[in-house]
This record gives sequence, structure tokens and C-alpha cells, in this order.
Amino acid sequence: FITAVHHYPSIHSTQETAHQLASENAPEGTLILADEQTKGKGRLGRQWHSPRETGIWMSLILRPDIEVKRAPQLTLLTAVAVVRGIKNAVGIDPEIKWPNDVLFEGKKVAGILTEMQAEPDKVHAIIVGLGLNVNQSQFPAPLDTIATSLRIESGKSVNRTDVLSSILIEWDWLYRTFLKEGFAAVKPLWEAHALTMGKRITARTPKETLTGIATGIDDSGVLLLRQDDGTLRHIYSADIEC
Ligand code: BTN
Repeated sequence: FITAVHHYPSIHSTQETAHQLASENAPEGTLILADEQTKGKGRLGRQWHSPRETGIWMSLILRPDIEVKRAPQLTLLTAVAVVRGIKNAVGIDPEIKWPNDVLFEGKKVAGILTEMQAEPDKVHAIIVGLGLNVNQSQFPAPLDTIATSLRIESGKSVNRTDVLSSILIEWDWLYRTFLKEGFAAVKPLWEAHALTMGKRITARTPKETLTGIATGIDDSGVLLLRQDDGTLRHIYSADIEC
């Protein structure tokens, strides 16, 4: 599935470079990798700490023929590929926190940033960015309390190329399945690794703070929350605490 690999020792952000290449018509399957990012971007305008040769800092250009509203499903699909890839390469089992965090006991090991180039209804390109902490043995404050790495969790140094290929192998068949059968075929795999399933959570949406039981996701990838009064709420965007 990967059609071209652009590998940089150090760049601002693979996401930024991917956007630029996508505007220049780079084909689906173009992968941008960096050993270091000097301006790594996280969700919600946050920075993403991407020190030299310690992690997988990558962005992938996709051009699926799907409606704009389905783009968030690719974040969930990528989280499944990351969890399964880590399990296959390193033998340890992280969990997914909706929508885009991959965690070990509440500490973040990877984050996914899905962005789009689109007209109102037509997707031109989707850029899926993945930051995965691999070989850090410690993190600077304040990250030390919220971040972890595969090395910290497994107790050994991990080969970045092995993890990357393992994730891309998973990603490849998940994406093909998604294009052929839709997100409904990926959903049970996501649910099998989801930390929030059946748990009491607090969801801070841009408008309000809601609490209740996370009962799952629907076929479009929206988080379902059952409030104490029985009302079922659909959560499209939020920070989740559990
Ligand atoms: C998050 O906030 O959880 C998402 C983090 C995404 C970070 C990755 S690292 C590779 C790619 N390039 C960036 O600048 N950001 C994404």
C-alpha cells in the first residue's frame, strides 16, 4: 500500500510536510517519516515532543473516496493498527482512549492527528499523523507524569523499524477492509482494545461537561455515552477522563 517514503533526519513536522506534498498532488500511500521534529504538532494546537531517534514520527497521505464526515473513522482505524502492531512487535498490550490516545495504565504512548484537505463535501486528502514514543527512558517535566514509551513499558530497547513495519502491516489490511466493507468491519476490533468501554467517564466537549457510562461507538465512530438519567448522548469531539 505504501507508494513512496520520504525520510528526513530532522524537519519541523511530518504533518506540515505531508500537507505540502498533498497539495502538490502526492499520491495516496505517501509516507513521511522523520527522526526528529522540531515543531511537532499535537491535537488542539498542542506541541508534540519529538526528540531525535527515540520515536516514530510519521504522516501518511490518503485519498479515500469517502464523505468528509467519515474522516474521524481513520483515527480510530489507525489506533487499532498501532495497538495491534505494538502487540505483535513488542508483546505488550496498550489500550485506546477515544478518540486518539494509545495508553499504558493511563500514560500516553502514542497520539494520532487526522487532518483533511477537502471541499465542503469531497475529500481531497486525509493526512494521518502518528507520534509513537519508542525508546525514551524518561520524559522532561511536565510530560513525565502523563507520557510513557515502549522501552519504559517493556523494560527493553525496541527497534523502531520493527515496530513501524508491524504497524504498517496491520494498517494495510485494516484500511483495505475499511474501503471494502466500511467502518462497521473495523469497529469490533476497536472495541476490543478500548479502555473506555463500559466505564464511567467524564467527557469535556467544547460546549459542556457530561458524565456517564461509555457504552461504545456507533457505526460512524461517534462515542456513545449513557447519562445517569438514561439519556444516550452522541459525543463528536471531547477530552475524556476515566
Ligand atoms: C495528539 O495530540 O495526541 C496527536 C499527536 C500527533 C503527533 C504526530 S508526530 C508525527 C505527526 N507530525 C506532527 O507534527 N504531528 C503528528
